[in-house]
Amino acid sequence: VLKLGCLISGRGSNLQALIDACAAPDFPAEIALVLSNKADAEGLERAKAAGIATSVVNHKEYADRDSFDAELDRRLRAAGVELVCLAGFMRLLTDGFVEGWRDRMINIHPSLLPALKGLKTHERALEAGARFTGCTVHYVRPEMDEGPIIAQAVVPVLDEDDAASLGARVLAEEHKLYPLAVRLIAEKRLSITGNRITVTGDKNLATPLI
Ligand code: GAR
Repeated sequence: VLKLGCLISGRGSNLQALIDACAAPDFPAEIALVLSNKADAEGLERAKAAGIATSVVNHKEYADRDSFDAELDRRLRAAGVELVCLAGFMRLLTDGFVEGWRDRMINIHPSLLPALKGLKTHERALEAGARFTGCTVHYVRPEMDEGPIIAQAVVPVLDEDDAASLGARVLAEEHKLYPLAVRLIAEKRLSITGNRITVTGDKNLATPLI
């Protein structure tokens, strides 16, 4: 089974979705380590409750991004992590760290990339009058919220929506999408050419979302 390292900063509901998926006997991945840059992240409690190893690397205790990222890297490698899953990790990572995990690090983002990179995506979808938004799982590249797109789910924007109601509708899709993307990687069903990903083998699993 593929060993995952999950990086979190807060609530950890996407982490929970991965924990739950990994608990199924036929799921081809397991979480080897949950790393947080915040000691009070709710996600750490979720990991502990599931008996998963946790670790805190407080970015405020490091002189610069390079030394913080070097410590993340050390801990991930010491735990035997093969795929890094960013799950609400709210720190920008250095180019060196990102390149060190090239094609072995993925992120979930609450918009249909390449639209609405960055923060406050649901507020901005509403301001822009978008009829649809959604979420994206993608391989991480040095530029923020860029990289080959693995899977996306589309969500309608309703007239009565505010950022909270829209965000909740997107989040429910995130929780399905992230485990799906991890499964496709663990089953070695993705090939990357530039920014484009093709899925090999039985596409039934992937067709509703990709
Ligand atoms: C999720 O909506 C995730 O897509 C988003 O933060 C939330 C984390 O929630 N990520 C980003 O905005 C990355 N820039 P969670 O801690 O409950 O998984």
